[in-house]
Amino acid sequence: MNLSEIIDKIKELKAEKNAVILAHYYTRPEVQDVADYLGDSLGLARQAEKTNADIIVFCGVHFMAETASIISPDKKVLSPVLRAGCSLADSVTGDDLRRWKERNPDGLIVSYVNTSAEVKAWSDYCCTSSNALKVVRSLPNDRQILFVPDKHLGAYIQEVTGRDMELWNGACVVHAPITAEMVLRRLDDFPEADALIHPESACSRDPRVLRHPRAYMYSTAGIIRHAKESPKRQFIVATELETIHELSKQNPAKEFIPIHPDTYCDQMKKVTLPDVLSALEQERHEVRVPEETRRRAVIPIQRMLEIG
Ligand code: 13P
Ligand code: SF4
Repeated sequence: MNLSEIIDKIKELKAEKNAVILAHYYTRPEVQDVADYLGDSLGLARQAEKTNADIIVFCGVHFMAETASIISPDKKVLSPVLRAGCSLADSVTGDDLRRWKERNPDGLIVSYVNTSAEVKAWSDYCCTSSNALKVVRSLPNDRQILFVPDKHLGAYIQEVTGRDMELWNGACVVHAPITAEMVLRRLDDFPEADALIHPESACSRDPRVLRHPRAYMYSTAGIIRHAKESPKRQFIVATELETIHELSKQNPAKEFIPIHPDTYCDQMKKVTLPDVLSALEQERHEVRVPEETRRRAVIPIQRMLEIG
């Protein structure tokens, strides 16, 4: 089958089976282009919550499909490839978190959505990079926050909110190499450009970046919104490379400069169009969370969705 036949067949099966395709901005461009909804972690979770489809084909990494299945247990959530992991989600287990909580009984556990269902089941609140500040600001001031697993996102939240936080020692292999020096050098090289930075980056709490008049810290959806709304013509993109696909599509006359050619998440690229087609044809690789874990994991996710 050639590419356009694969795309036609995907469309046909989607209609026949009342399926919807959700894809993250970091997936392959051709996968993004067949998606019914393209989004960041928060946007995708919201779509999974509200869709009327019977089948969700989730193109992203495993924890994202798992989150969709936790929110919408009555839907069949398919992950076109089962082994798409994430260095953040792999950095902490449910047992680790249970022990952390035992050592800090008064702390509130806020877990980034990049975690397994078992970790969410031990968490008090969930957050994504879109709503992390909002979630933390909503919590009582006298409670310490145990933030898991991304130390860079955690450091950013700590810096901006001034909250008493303990941070887990996890990091994203793609964003953590983005340093303040790298961002500042790019800003010097391109004096007209804004730098749009994901807070999983190592520069997330560096005052030289946070106070720079042309540097902005955003989730992926925030980066896309800024580029669209800004009158500027040039942007330094300090996040995963494939985000530039949607940025360029929405803003053909603007220029997007990658912070570094290595900001590439190979796990997000595992899903190909033939995988999407096979998932739909065979309804294979269903993602399901054991009901006992799911019932506990859905609580912090729902709290997050209610906060915003
Ligand atoms: P957002 O989708 O929340 O921007 O997070 C990025 C990410 O690393 C997903 O893996
Ligand atoms: Fe995980 Fe980082 Fe890849 Fe996102 S970009 S899926 S946080 S490894």
